[in-house]
Amino acid sequence: MADDLDNLAVAAGAAVAAADSLAALEDQRVALLGKNGSVTGLLKALGGMEPEARKARGAAVNHLKAALTEAIESRRAVLEQSALAARLAAERIDISAPPRPESPGAIHPISRTMDEIAAIFGAQGFTIRQGPDVEDDWFAFGALNIPGHHPARAMMDTFYLRAAGGHNGRPAVLRPHTSAVQIRTMLSETPPIRIIVPGRTFRSDHDATHSPMFHQVEGLVIGTDITLAHLKGCLIDFLRAYFGLPDLPVRFRASYFPFTEPSMEVDIGWNRKTGEIGAGTDWLEILGSGMVHANVLANCGIDPGAYQGFAFGMGIERLTMLKHGIADLRLFYESDTRWLTHYGFSPLNPASLTEGL
Ligand code: PHE
Repeated sequence: MADDLDNLAVAAGAAVAAADSLAALEDQRVALLGKNGSVTGLLKALGGMEPEARKARGAAVNHLKAALTEAIESRRAVLEQSALAARLAAERIDISAPPRPESPGAIHPISRTMDEIAAIFGAQGFTIRQGPDVEDDWFAFGALNIPGHHPARAMMDTFYLRAAGGHNGRPAVLRPHTSAVQIRTMLSETPPIRIIVPGRTFRSDHDATHSPMFHQVEGLVIGTDITLAHLKGCLIDFLRAYFGLPDLPVRFRASYFPFTEPSMEVDIGWNRKTGEIGAGTDWLEILGSGMVHANVLANCGIDPGAYQGFAFGMGIERLTMLKHGIADLRLFYESDTRWLTHYGFSPLNPASLTEGL
C-alpha cells in the first residue's frame, strides 16, 4: 500500500480509538468518510487516474475505507456500552435503603374491641347487623316491651330529638341501646337468626365511667329449640375467649329487663383491689342477657309458641377498659395522639379469634 495511505490509516485509526464520546467519534467519521472527508477525497481523486494505476489504488483506498468503517463501528459499540453503563450507575435506585421512620397510625382500642368481639362471635356463626343512631321510640322502647310510662325509659337517660320530626308520628330518640336493632332484624328476617349488632349508643350521662356517646354490642339468637343453656354456653365461651382466660369464673345472676324473661346479669370473677380479672373472690357485672320476652317476639310477628331465643347486650368501653387497664373513659374520645400511640393497636396485626386464647 502506498505510504500516504499507510500514514492515513495509522493516524485515522489512532484518532478513532482516541474518540472519547459518541459526538467526538461522529466528528472523526465525518472528517474521514463524510462528503468532504479525506478518504472520500481519495476516492474522488481516482477518477483522474490511468486505468491501470486506478485499479491498484482504488482497491487500496476501498480497503482503507472498509477498515476505517469497521473501526468506527466497533468504537461506537464500545462508547454506547459505556454510556449505558454510566446511565445505569447514575440512575440506580438503592433498594437497600432503610425505610423512613413513618408512623403507620394505630387502631383505636374501641375499634379493636369491636373487631375482637366480631371475630369471637363470628366463629360461633354470628353475622353482623347495624341500625340507625336516630330511632323512632317504638324500636327503642315500645316494641321491646317498654311502654310509655315505664321507669326503664327514665333509667336510660334518653336524648329525645325535638327537631328531627319523629318517625311515623312517634318521637325520635338517639338510641340508648342497640336493642332497637333486634326489632329491626326480627321484622325484616325470618328465623333462624344469629346476629350481633355493634354500634354507637347515647345517654345523657357524663363522668369517668359514662359518656353521652358510647358503644354497645347486642346479640340475638332466635330458633325453634333455643334454651337458656345455649345462652350460658355462648356467653361463657365469649367471655373466656375475649379475656384470654380459659378458666375465667362466670356467674349468672337473676335480674330484670322488660324485653327478656327470665333476665340475667352476667358477672365475671375479679379482684376488686388489684383490678385483676379472673383472680380473687369478687364479682364484676359485665353484661345483661335473657330469653327474648314473648311480647317482643309477638311484636315482631314471630310466634312465641313456635320460636324462642336469647339476647344480650354489653358496653364496649367497659370491656376495653377492663382488658387493658384504662381507668378513665373520657380519654377514649379526646383524640390525644400520645394516648392513642400508647393504647392503640397495630393495623398490621388484625384481631383474630386465636390471639386472646
Ligand atoms: N339493652 C340492655 C342495656 O342497654 C342490655 C340488654 C340487651 C339486656 C339484651 C338484655 C338483653 O342495658
